[in-house]
Amino acid sequence: MSPLGGRCVVLGVTGGIAAYKAADACRRLVGAGAHVVPVLTAGALRMVGETTFSALASEPAVTSLWKDPSPAIPHTDLGRRADAVVVCPATARLISDLRTGRSGDILTATLLATRAPVIVAPAMHTEMWEHPSVQENMAVLAERGVTVVGPVEGPLAGGDIGSGRMAAPAEIVAAVEAVLTPQDLAGRRVLVTSGGTREPIDAVRYVGNRSSGKQGAAVASEAAARGAGVVLVTTEPDRAPAAARVVAVETAAEMAAAVELEARGADAVVMAAAVADFRPANPAGTKIKKGRGVPPLELEPTRDILASLGASKPPGQVLVGFAAETEDLEANALDKLRSKNLDVIVANDVSKEQVGFGHDTNEIVMFTADGARHHVPLTTKREAARAVLDKVVALMAEAP
Ligand code: CTP
Repeated sequence: MSPLGGRCVVLGVTGGIAAYKAADACRRLVGAGAHVVPVLTAGALRMVGETTFSALASEPAVTSLWKDPSPAIPHTDLGRRADAVVVCPATARLISDLRTGRSGDILTATLLATRAPVIVAPAMHTEMWEHPSVQENMAVLAERGVTVVGPVEGPLAGGDIGSGRMAAPAEIVAAVEAVLTPQDLAGRRVLVTSGGTREPIDAVRYVGNRSSGKQGAAVASEAAARGAGVVLVTTEPDRAPAAARVVAVETAAEMAAAVELEARGADAVVMAAAVADFRPANPAGTKIKKGRGVPPLELEPTRDILASLGASKPPGQVLVGFAAETEDLEANALDKLRSKNLDVIVANDVSKEQVGFGHDTNEIVMFTADGARHHVPLTTKREAARAVLDKVVALMAEAP
């Protein structure tokens, strides 16, 4: 489940023109499972409609300290219920009020009354954003632990272009998600592999497979978000999250060498890569010319990287394998779990629609060495990654 699932998020909206984008942020927060309470200032109400937010959010929009007689103190009620307060957009006035502790309206009063983490997404014209007062206020807020998202460069209201544009709603929601993500892998080292290996036939051709590297990249992103130090050994470095240390490889042999090195000292290894089982035995150093006829393609086996890791697994290390199957999912997965000495095998039926190779979604079944089975219905690859890492964290907690 997303870290936003079931969490109460107070969405503060102030009177910047970017307020219309807060409606999109609201919809996204609700979509991720959050319980969203919109709080609109008088300035916001000049820009956007109360009804819009009441319709999109989990509760009617709150617009005044004085309107609702029960509870008589809405700001403390909101402040206590909030798991996070996000202000989107945050005007220069709001930023200044938050810094100095002014509480002239429902939003600033809620911000003072809460102990929940606060995220602000500033939006204003470049001249205002760059003003020393605003910059000083922002520095103080950051020092106090307020999370700041953006602003970014781009077109501003009135046709100007510059810095001060509010961050995209998706980024703001990601920041709220990051703030609410448990740091249950803090201090841990996680090694992830991803992508399909490419085994050369000649100087330009290779034997490959359809793995996109998306599932492994999602595992790496999620592990980093949960506080782990992440190494990603991959044939798809362009998909790697910025938070991971990336080792780019091409062939099964290169992946084996990198994994062998990086697995030392890793608390968990997640082998999401689709590693070639066979490679051309005699790859040509130059391009094979068509005119010379159809060349024979002799194959030889590669080393099973995961089986080698399983055979020499250090105590306490959690070893996770993947099994992409098209038939007999459970039997094949359990066979790999046992024969490779794994703690978890993540199996998926890649013959199903929207599952596995190339898609952004996946449906997985996890089998653990203790005989447990956990089915994750069709979902995003990020959600599937969460489920895998929940299992890893649980197994780490059990380790002596
Ligand atoms: N794997 C590996 N090295 C190989 C082949 C596979 O480390 N040379 C790993 C994969 O990264 C995956 C797991 O083993 O985590 C299972 O891979 P898969 O291709 O499904 O299984 P195989 O053992 O190769 O068996 P088969 O191809 O017969 O299904």
